[in-house]
Amino acid sequence: MEDENPSLPVRDGSVPRHVAIIMDGNGRWAAERGLPRYAGHYEGMRSVREAVEGAIDAGLEILTLFAFSTENWARPEDEVLALMALLKVYSEKEREELRQKGVEVHVLGDLTRIDDSTREAVELMKSRTQGGSKLRMNLMVSYSGRSDIIEAARELARRVGRGDLDPEEIDAPAFAETLSTRGLPDPDLLIRTSGEFRISNFMLWELAYAEIHVTPVLWPDFTRDDLFQALREFQLRNRRFGRISFC
Ligand code: FPP
Repeated sequence: MEDENPSLPVRDGSVPRHVAIIMDGNGRWAAERGLPRYAGHYEGMRSVREAVEGAIDAGLEILTLFAFSTENWARPEDEVLALMALLKVYSEKEREELRQKGVEVHVLGDLTRIDDSTREAVELMKSRTQGGSKLRMNLMVSYSGRSDIIEAARELARRVGRGDLDPEEIDAPAFAETLSTRGLPDPDLLIRTSGEFRISNFMLWELAYAEIHVTPVLWPDFTRDDLFQALREFQLRNRRFGRISFC
């Protein structure tokens, strides 16, 4: 297949299973054009489509996108409302195409904070795309890595309190199984757009051994070629997981 498209990464088994993306730079993209910030977020939807199609073409299993952080609730009200409206529009507009492409959508985060009509649209997108077998997409919405870890710690403490769990049984796999990302392999690769070298409270537990790729491209300009470039670079990395070498 890669012969037909020379920009695709090599499909020799070293394509990462799970790629996570911090989609950043929407505001700067809009400011550069004298547009309101929401225009950058709106354009960012097109890049989400690019990333999903690129992920399918490259043969990824899981694509996780940081769409809205817990901290983003502190943005000006009109921007929060615009982002929620966009999530609703995305859920309604894209769900049929996502289903046809075989994308199973999961939405992780504190959805209790989202308004009812947006939550209904999100739930419908989740249910309509259930069973998609080409790609699992996780949209992280109202999500924070620390909150997820705190909630897992509380849950484990409750089990210990009930006498259902011996504290000595709490190990890394048990902890991972209590996070909202339970059952998923950790991301192999984290991509962050807009040139910022931060992980911004994203998947703090799960990214422990992820390779990190930072691109200066602002999210609304991100294309599948940028994804492929990150994947090709990943394929040149020597992953050691804390050891001297890893085979
Ligand atoms: C960060 O850019 C981006 C966000 C806070 C929102 C991400 C949302 C999208 C990509 C659009 C919609 C996607 C879905 C799936 C509904 P920023 O605003 O922090 O940019 P800046 O750092 O340049 O100000």
